[in-house]
Amino acid sequence: MSVQSQNRRVTVPEIKSHKGGTPIVVLTCYHAHTARLLDSHVDIMLVGDSLGMVMHGLENTLGVTLEMMITHGKAVMRGSKRALVVVDMPFGSYEESPAIAFRNAARVIQETGATAVKMEGGVRMAETVKYLTQRGIPVMGHIGLTPQGVNVAGGFKTVGRNQDEWPAIEADAKALAEAGAFAMVLEGMAEPLAAKITAEIAVPTIGIGASPACDGQVLVMEDMLGLNPDPPRFVREYASLGGAIEAAVKAYAADVRSRSFPGAENVYPMKKAQ
Ligand code: KIV
Repeated sequence: MSVQSQNRRVTVPEIKSHKGGTPIVVLTCYHAHTARLLDSHVDIMLVGDSLGMVMHGLENTLGVTLEMMITHGKAVMRGSKRALVVVDMPFGSYEESPAIAFRNAARVIQETGATAVKMEGGVRMAETVKYLTQRGIPVMGHIGLTPQGVNVAGGFKTVGRNQDEWPAIEADAKALAEAGAFAMVLEGMAEPLAAKITAEIAVPTIGIGASPACDGQVLVMEDMLGLNPDPPRFVREYASLGGAIEAAVKAYAADVRSRSFPGAENVYPMKKAQ
């Protein structure tokens, strides 16, 4: 068996073929050990710029750099061999012009080995999406609540509750699909609008706080594992790892303090003395 066939990853056309069919499973992932655990269970691992908050304690995603994305993208690629890996383009790395977006996205693809990038924005980013796609870089779009626009929006607000907003958001979705985006995240979107967009466009929609009618779902992995003390309201927690980690650390601290920590001979098997 060739090395290539052993390491075959989910492809962009395979993701597109899920449209209207089996829902696409997506989780964020930022590091190698968790990539190994997720790899055979998800279709896509998203190295999201949410890593700025989750891994680095930033207040929002605006301080995330291209170097941070590349570092975590490399780690996720090293830890996985099957899922399609998508890396977020951070704020400031793609909005200025299609050529600058291409240069930075090409760095991400070349240095991490990931398959695709994701960028926020609809109609205004369509030209860039087309430019990258035509030059060999698959792009996942991201519309609705776009966290990199937090300062313009004045917070993280669900969109589409008011029907007056719908035409502009539908235009965003159509523009991205026509520009060649292979899928798009619908974030923080009223359910009827997310369902309508999903029915209207030919590429898969991936919902987060949007609608079960989307073609797939994404969650921040740490949120669904119970590691975020203040998760978004729509998150279902599938484990309570925060409590489990604290209990384990408490037990460890008690062991160390009572000197009941295992001796080196139990940890590193030593040669018997002759
Ligand atoms: O950065 C991220 O994790 C994301 C998802 C929430 C879609 O963009």
